[in-house]
Order: sequence, then C-alpha cells, then structure tokens
Amino acid sequence: MSRALVSGASSGIGRELARLLARDGHEVILVARRERELRELADEIGGARVLAIDLAERGAVERVVREIADVDVLVNNAGVGDYGPFVSSDLDRQLAMIDLNVRALTELTHAYLAGMVRRRFGRVLNVASTAAFQPGPYLATYSATKAYVLSFSEALAEEVRGRGVSVTALCPGPTASGFQSAARMQSSWMVRRVPMPSAASVAEAGYAAMLEGRPVAVVGRTNRLMVQATRVAPRAALRRAAGLVLGAGKS
Ligand SMILES: NC(=O)c1ccc[n+]([C@@H]2O[C@H](COP(=O)([O-])OP(=O)(O)OC[C@H]3O[C@@H](n4cnc5c(N)ncnc54)[C@H](OP(=O)(O)O)[C@@H]3O)[C@@H](O)[C@H]2O)c1
Repeated sequence: MSRALVSGASSGIGRELARLLARDGHEVILVARRERELRELADEIGGARVLAIDLAERGAVERVVREIADVDVLVNNAGVGDYGPFVSSDLDRQLAMIDLNVRALTELTHAYLAGMVRRRFGRVLNVASTAAFQPGPYLATYSATKAYVLSFSEALAEEVRGRGVSVTALCPGPTASGFQSAARMQSSWMVRRVPMPSAASVAEAGYAAMLEGRPVAVVGRTNRLMVQATRVAPRAALRRAAGLVLGAGKS
C-alpha cells in the first residue's frame, strides 16, 4: 500500500484530497493544527494517522519526519493568506505565512523527495494558486509565496523528469473553503461577488493532474484564459488590474 501525507487536511481542498487518496486505497497521514477535525476525517475515511502540528513553527517538519520517515505521495496543501495593504499588515502574520507557504513546503519536499527518487516511485502535489502568475496587490506576500511554489515545483518537475517521480503545481483560482475567512477577505468584492467552485471539484482536478504527472494544473477554463493573458499582457497592466480587482472592498 502506498503512503500519502496531506498537509492542511483539516478543511477545504486538503480534506478533499485526503478523501480521494483514501478512496484509492492509500494509507493517509493527515497533518494540520486542528486535531478534532483531523480525527473526524480519519474516522470518516476508515482510519488515518493524525499529526496535529503547526507547520509554521520552527522544527515542526522535523517532528513530522521523526514520525513518518517516508511517503510515496506528498501533498503540500497547507497554506494561508492575509488580505489588506502590506503597510498596515501584522508582520508576524506575514512571516508566519512565509514559514507555512514556503518554508514548510520546501522542508517537507526536501525530506521526502529524495526517497521517492531513490525508489523511482512517488508523486508530489504542491498547491500554488492562480495568484502565482502575477503580482497581487493587497495579497502581496501571499501572491509572492505562491509564485515561489509554482517556480519551485516546475523546477523540481524538470529535475526528476524520467525518474519515476512527478511534481505537480496545482493552481486553483478562488475556491469555496475556509481560506477567505482565515485570510480576512470577506469584505473583498471578489469574495462577495465571484462564484467559486467547491473545494471537492478543485481537489478532483488536482488529483487527476497529479496522477497524470502534469507539472502545472490551472483549474477552470476562465482561470486558464486569465493565465494565458498574463503571458501576453504588459506587466504594468497586469498589476494595475490585479490591484483594482483585489482592492475593491478592502477596509
Ligand atoms: N480557497 C482559495 O480561494 C484558494 C485559491 C488558490 C489556492 N489556494 C490554496 O489552497 C490551499 C488549501 O487552502 P483551502 O482553500 O483549502 O483553505 P482552508 O480550508 O483554509 O484550508 C487550509 C488548510 O491549511 C491548514 N493550515 C493553516 N495553517 C496551518 C499551520 N500553521 N500548520 C498546519 N496547517 C495549517 C488548515 O488547517 P488548521 O487550521 O487546522 O491548521 C487547513 O487544513 C492553500 O495552500 C491555499 O493557499 C486556495
């Protein structure tokens, strides 16, 4: 049986990915801070190892690796945003976001990818975002962390190509989940007005892309068109448009 670790499995996209992995017979390890939610999910999917850990803390990934030496599937899904003007943001929140979205993801990948390459078997699914493709005013640090995840994942996909291992960057657009309230985004026009796909449908698209070994998966036709536009539109126009869309409704 193959072993899969999912970070951020207590809600949203991560919970749905864990359900898909369990459905397909993987032994699943669920990681997030909220132990009760993880245990409920473990019961629902017929048993799973639960690690209630704050991945933004120093040494957290070492603790995970001490418990779980190897995995065949690594889903780096845990991530948070922080909405609003950078100058009035709480620096500790910004730095914790970098620790989670970038550092923990990098550490977990470093811990498990080498074993996958050695065994010539394994998959990594890193959850980035469509925010990775252009600067995101009012989500400046978040967008930069996701640009890192996309670039890092694509580079690794190339490094391991042809070695029995794949690395996929999943790039959802706005998705109905706990993300918006955790990022304090409820006031934004985008959250109030833009219809969002369910976390389950995004997880299914990401899971399929991972199984196919695709390096990048942008979810949804409109999002794919927008990503195409970022390749041809002038950078100044992109950041101006992103600022208008993301800034509308900020307090
Ligand atoms: N929803 C969107 O609009 C959207 C769009 C593009 C990309 N994404 C990305 O999708 C991924 C999943 O987010 P989601 O939309 O499913 O949001 P979500 O429902 O808020 O889920 C986020 C998950 O990350 C976990 N997490 C947060 N901080 C953590 C920490 N310090 N240590 C360990 N786990 C932590 C949360 O669990 P605990 O609170 O229990 O720790 C939760 O399980 C994120 O990387 C996000 O950036 C989301």
